[in-house]
Amino acid sequence: MTQFLFVTDLDNTLVGNDHALARLNQHLSQHREEYGSCIVYATGRSPTLYRQLTTERLLLEPDILVPSVGTAIYFKGTETPDPEWISKLSQNWNREQVVAIAAHFADLQTQPPDEQTPFKASYFLAETVAAAVLPKLESALKQQGLDIQLVYSSGRDLDILPRQGNKGSATRFLQQRLNIPPERTVMCGDSGNDLSFFQQNQEARGIIVGNAQPELLEWHQANPSPNRYLAHSHCAAGILEGLLHFGFLSQPNPAAK
Ligand code: GLC
Ligand code: MG
Repeated sequence: MTQFLFVTDLDNTLVGNDHALARLNQHLSQHREEYGSCIVYATGRSPTLYRQLTTERLLLEPDILVPSVGTAIYFKGTETPDPEWISKLSQNWNREQVVAIAAHFADLQTQPPDEQTPFKASYFLAETVAAAVLPKLESALKQQGLDIQLVYSSGRDLDILPRQGNKGSATRFLQQRLNIPPERTVMCGDSGNDLSFFQQNQEARGIIVGNAQPELLEWHQANPSPNRYLAHSHCAAGILEGLLHFGFLSQPNPAAK
């Protein structure tokens, strides 16, 4: 066993089955202690909603928190987001202009203020109209020269982000900063905002939990890769299944019980 970079989404990936979460936590904290493995939470939640979750569920303290769909990176012990990442995201990003254009789309409903961050403008958009609205919105934004990306998740959440910022690109940034190669990196997810993990890190190992959303499953089925594992089990139990599959963790020895 050796060190690895463990990057996981929270809602409906790490969190969703408390029993399995407790088991996975035990494996991960032991691995971190013995081999220095690094635990990263990459979530759509803002820091505020992340803190709320920590009061509701028993989560290990991560080494790095990547909130707001990859648009900020907090190393343990720091209260401010990593400045190098912020400066990458700032290039060609104009939040006011994004919001002004989005305001012309009546089907978009602005998410609560806590979920609006300097590099993320978030809305609710009904699944029934999403396929028609998203291409129009994207072209309206791009026509104004805005270098953005749209991330649609769970048939409900729309995030407009700088082109440089998502969970996948944040993970690549961390691999370089920590000097951990892709084959020692594993990323786990369940929905649209996790797609960039797998699209932008084809060499890294990916785990899709068994309860994943159709938007992620469809992409996975159309783009199969031996580096990506679709678990049978849900949430943390699916992560554990994947970590065993890739050999990041070893099967507990029954004789040792
Ligand atoms: C989380 C965030 C929300 C975002 C969604 C999808 O639910 O709170 O703002 O739209 O993730 O990324
Ligand atoms: Mg999720």
